[in-house]
Amino acid sequence: MKQFTYYTPTKVVFGKDTELQVGKLVKEQGAKKVLIHYGGGSAVRSGLLDRVRKSLEEEGIESVCLGGVKPNPRLSLVREGIALGKKEQVDFILAVGGGSVIDSSKAIGYGLYDGGDIWDFYLRKRTASGCVPVGAVLTIAAAGSEMSQSCVITNEDGWIKRGYSSNYARCRFAVLNPELTYTLPWYQTACGCVDIIMHIMERYFTPDSDTMLTDGMSEQIIRTVMYNARILKKDPENYNARAQVMWAGSLAHNGLLSCGVQEDWASHQLEHELSGLFDVAHGAGLAAVWGSWARYVVDAKPERFAQLAVNILGVPMNFSDVKGTALAGIEAMERFFMEIDMPVNLHELGVEPTQEQIQIMARKCTFNGERTVGGIRKLGETEIAEIYRMAL
Ligand code: NZQ
Ligand code: ZN
Repeated sequence: MKQFTYYTPTKVVFGKDTELQVGKLVKEQGAKKVLIHYGGGSAVRSGLLDRVRKSLEEEGIESVCLGGVKPNPRLSLVREGIALGKKEQVDFILAVGGGSVIDSSKAIGYGLYDGGDIWDFYLRKRTASGCVPVGAVLTIAAAGSEMSQSCVITNEDGWIKRGYSSNYARCRFAVLNPELTYTLPWYQTACGCVDIIMHIMERYFTPDSDTMLTDGMSEQIIRTVMYNARILKKDPENYNARAQVMWAGSLAHNGLLSCGVQEDWASHQLEHELSGLFDVAHGAGLAAVWGSWARYVVDAKPERFAQLAVNILGVPMNFSDVKGTALAGIEAMERFFMEIDMPVNLHELGVEPTQEQIQIMARKCTFNGERTVGGIRKLGETEIAEIYRMAL
């Protein structure tokens, strides 16, 4: 097992009606004036925003609101949020929504603290030295941003989607009420389930081998998400299934499953170019590229793919054909994606990139040739372009 530091400072408040505690949670942080940040309207329609504001009022905490975060959150709104936050002198940002809202909030927090150009961080020109504190009331189990250290923003100038990670932006608290996810369209629920599974697999496909404990936790969380996704397809208001998936989403990406392992993240990097350029839903984009990535890299460590196949997907182990077992596992995972109405190629995703666009995405994915992606197998521009072509 490799050396690691496990740091997960987010206070999690889980269960029914927990959003009513938000005023107390913000007060605990010593905040006086809050920027409430939200998305395209689901939190308004469900009455959640009103409940949150009331809870803040009850604790004597002032607030201003900024809605309009789009999936694949945009830099322009982040800049608007920074300007508003400065003008109103807010000292806390409360994200009410999903990964996009939380990431937009984290970026605003960085910008308010820093004062310089926020995009510099995403271009790796500078590193953050702090962040105005952020808290989250989560409405979709998916990105895991409520406990993660990362924050992914899309710059409309060039449609460049980039992540920035630091512990400064980790949420001070995350309010997880599974009932808040009842109103999700099935497509978003399914995208969320894929993203959660992918956050685990990006760590599971490691070149390392002494990973028994982390593997066991990873495998059980993937099984839990698959089992409950099938329930939610038929019964979206099943509290226990929503609860299992919601907690899985946070555990998948809070660093627990990174302990002692070298991670991969190639599928995510490939997907970020897709959602940057074509504005697709992140989870669906992941489902569309994962199988092609897996088939491209399987030879680097077939026994790892075979382990996934046997331990999670019920494929019998064929000791005389480990690669065959691995490939059967990849197919079985794709069958699951199809079962939950997710795409398994770019055509099904609704995206038909030209050869030129493939080349552009591959180039951007390597930061113009400055990096490779992936851990189990390192991928440069040529390999990335090949995977996009396989996924067409
Ligand atoms: O904007 P509203 O109206 O709220 O609608 C949203 C949005 O259209 C809707 N929704 C959310 N909660 C709902 C709801 N609709 C009805 N009822 C509810 N309770 O769902 C849609 C998707 O929301 P979004 O926040 O975009 O979803 P998600 O949590 O999947 O976040 C995706 C973003 O997170 C990034 C992705 O790249 C993408 O930009 N990621 C962030 C990560 C992180 N910070 O750690 C890691 C991830 O790998 C990922 O890259
Ligand atoms: Zn993700």
